[in-house]
Amino acid sequence: MRLIFLGSPGVGKGTQGHLISEYLSIPTISTGEVLREAVSNQTELGKKAQYAMEQGELVSDDLVTAIIADYLKPFSEGSGYLLDGFPRNINQANVLDNILSANGNQIDKVVLFTLPDDVLLRRLTGRRTCSKTGEILNIYFSSKEKLQACLDLGGTLIQRKDDQEEIISNRISVYKSETFPLINYYEEKNLLVKVNAESPVAMVHQELLSSLNLNCMS
Ligand code: AP5
Repeated sequence: MRLIFLGSPGVGKGTQGHLISEYLSIPTISTGEVLREAVSNQTELGKKAQYAMEQGELVSDDLVTAIIADYLKPFSEGSGYLLDGFPRNINQANVLDNILSANGNQIDKVVLFTLPDDVLLRRLTGRRTCSKTGEILNIYFSSKEKLQACLDLGGTLIQRKDDQEEIISNRISVYKSETFPLINYYEEKNLLVKVNAESPVAMVHQELLSSLNLNCMS
């Protein structure tokens, strides 16, 4: 199954992405994660992407579409993948369509996660990543046991640089101006399904499975 996750920063795409990847045994390709790793290793790509990411702006289409073309190559055959955070504007969606049709592939579903802005803010300001396990946690929403488990493993709870309030509000407005048009784009292709992301993680996962008609596999 080839999936795209759409939705505002902080809506829970990464969290749900890990769960559905495991459930379907498909890889997740997250442009945000690829870019953050490049920045942290200060590769050529990372140096070019860093400023835009720190401001909450989109990295240039040329850089991001080159990454995707590269990552998708080995997956033109196989059981599929999840694209998390790509495409993010109409130009990127057109590039993706061209890559897919050149490989004789198509997207099966585009999942749009929705959440009110005030909840998004709390999810983003509270987000921490466990340095040991890479698990995405939240100081407001994760259980004390889960947060403590990371510390007990010798990990620390790291806050992303772009999870500062002023950067968050720019990321949300960039999402509204650049990525919103993709909702229509995929609706017109009859690929869009909507998932309300407000419930706890396990319930959102169940709703996601239903929206993909996958309940019978659980
Ligand atoms: P990216 O990494 O894609 O960030 P994003 O889209 O802003 O999304 P986030 O990772 O912030 O949120 P998420 O929806 O994954 O939420 P999460 O699961 O972590 O992109 C970062 C940057 O890279 C961009 O700003 C841009 O500069 C660049 N970039 C990336 N792709 C690009 C592209 N295609 N083109 C150009 N530039 C690109 O959850 C958030 C928090 O909520 C966590 O703490 C989690 O524990 C908690 N949580 C999740 N679900 C629940 C729940 N149900 N209940 C309670 N808490 C929950």
